[in-house]
Amino acid sequence: PAPGWSRAADVVVVGSGVAGLTTALRCAAGGARVVVVTKARLDDGSTRWAQGGIAAALGDGDTPRQHLDDTLVAGAGLCDESAVRLLVTEGPDAVRRLIATGARFDADPLTGAILLTREGGHHRRRIAHAGGDATGAEVSRALVDAVRAAGIETVENALVLDLLTDAAGRTAGVTLHVMGEGARDGVGAVHAPAVVLATGGMGQVFSATTNPAVSTGDGVALALRAGAEVSDLEFVQFHPTVMWLGAGAEGQQPLVSEAVRGEGAHLVDADGVRFMLGQHELAELAPRDIVAKAITRRMRETGTEHMYLDARHFGAAMWEHRFPTILAACRAHGIDPVTEPVPVSPAAHYASGGVRTDERGHTTVPGLYACGETACTGVHGANRLASNSLLEGLVYAERIAEDVLAGRGARAPGEPVAPVAPADPLPGPADRAVLQRLMTSGAGVLRDAAGLATAADGLRELRERAREAARHGTGPEPCVDTWETANLLLVAETLVTCARTRKETRGCHWREDYPERDDERWHRHLVVTLTPERT
Ligand code: SIN
Repeated sequence: PAPGWSRAADVVVVGSGVAGLTTALRCAAGGARVVVVTKARLDDGSTRWAQGGIAAALGDGDTPRQHLDDTLVAGAGLCDESAVRLLVTEGPDAVRRLIATGARFDADPLTGAILLTREGGHHRRRIAHAGGDATGAEVSRALVDAVRAAGIETVENALVLDLLTDAAGRTAGVTLHVMGEGARDGVGAVHAPAVVLATGGMGQVFSATTNPAVSTGDGVALALRAGAEVSDLEFVQFHPTVMWLGAGAEGQQPLVSEAVRGEGAHLVDADGVRFMLGQHELAELAPRDIVAKAITRRMRETGTEHMYLDARHFGAAMWEHRFPTILAACRAHGIDPVTEPVPVSPAAHYASGGVRTDERGHTTVPGLYACGETACTGVHGANRLASNSLLEGLVYAERIAEDVLAGRGARAPGEPVAPVAPADPLPGPADRAVLQRLMTSGAGVLRDAAGLATAADGLRELRERAREAARHGTGPEPCVDTWETANLLLVAETLVTCARTRKETRGCHWREDYPERDDERWHRHLVVTLTPERT
């Protein structure tokens, strides 16, 4: 699209992972005019990188009730039970509909039954997978094919900037930065009475993450600027077993799926000691926060930068058949998991919090929805249960589509007046790495008041510098990189504010200075809305 480009639609879906594309497909099937806007290519988001699978009570003897119980335990007291109930009861049919849409899951060749594996926090085999360990890639392929076959309008390489509202404060569309070459770059708009934010997570706020480069918290930042409520941002999940590629490795790091532990791999220290035994009844398959903490503690005790995942006993055939993606990634980095343990350490993986929504995906701004990792539906509480994220994207996308379709035509899109908040001042090109290091050292797996205060001071300095540069007209050129960094800065500041406020340890929020869970004071959510003075 050229600069000045604009479109009108019934609904604009921002993001093209499982949440965004499922919403788009279901809305289009109901007759809505849909435009999908995505920052890179349709298949560039986090969904494609998901390895383990989709959790749902599909196996013999399993029930939504048992899935609910495991989810509530992992969520450490902060799940919204009715949101979880919807997830686990509607989940199995949502997976079946995904299969009907074209996704092919691994199945028993004789019976056709879907094969299920285990992951941390699940008391049963409950995780459907595809291509062994390439579930996300298959889900993404199937959804992208279906969106193309349905003729849904898609706009790739366009970063959504801000929400448009009408005079009554209702959603009227979005502005977007259309990426082209040099002078072809420009700002466009999609006008629509419904906007669904499904931009994925914010892993790039940290130096090392399993998230792809596009995960820069864009949806949460947009929602904050639009005045929507955001909740639970302090609960960043660190995946316990991310391949350790050397001190100071930055950006997206290769994941070693929890399903590898689900199939029997052991976590060991440099002396070969299985340190998870005796720490939790599920040992290596304890909920993710517990394993990440145990690894971090052991690294500290032994003065090392990583632990090992030992699955040599799988043998070559099982590695090749069951975990071909991970095997290839290990070998690409000079590690052969068939003959040696894989060095692993925790890295940022998933935002359990996000834009606060109800059970139909409504945010607190009329006409604005959020779905998937961008949203905080309440299903994850203080720590998401493994493989519940693709499921959440599916189930809540369908609920949102129903709601959009029910309201469609009820009102014409309002005349947009303006983005609801002035754009944030743009940080400089070098500021992103500074921000990531501040967050990693001050707001990473282990947190305390002093570290969080240092991070907060550093972030404040970055914002003041950006403001000053904007005032003097010496700020950087607006471009995708600088806008993304502005989004990262806003979500990082909010995350640190929440982490400083929550003076307890719960789920994936670990305060060394408040090591206990404190149900009396902190059995509640932190909800943030931006005050206009900030900008
Ligand atoms: C994994 O495969 O370990 C990741 C699954 C998830 O994050 O739910």
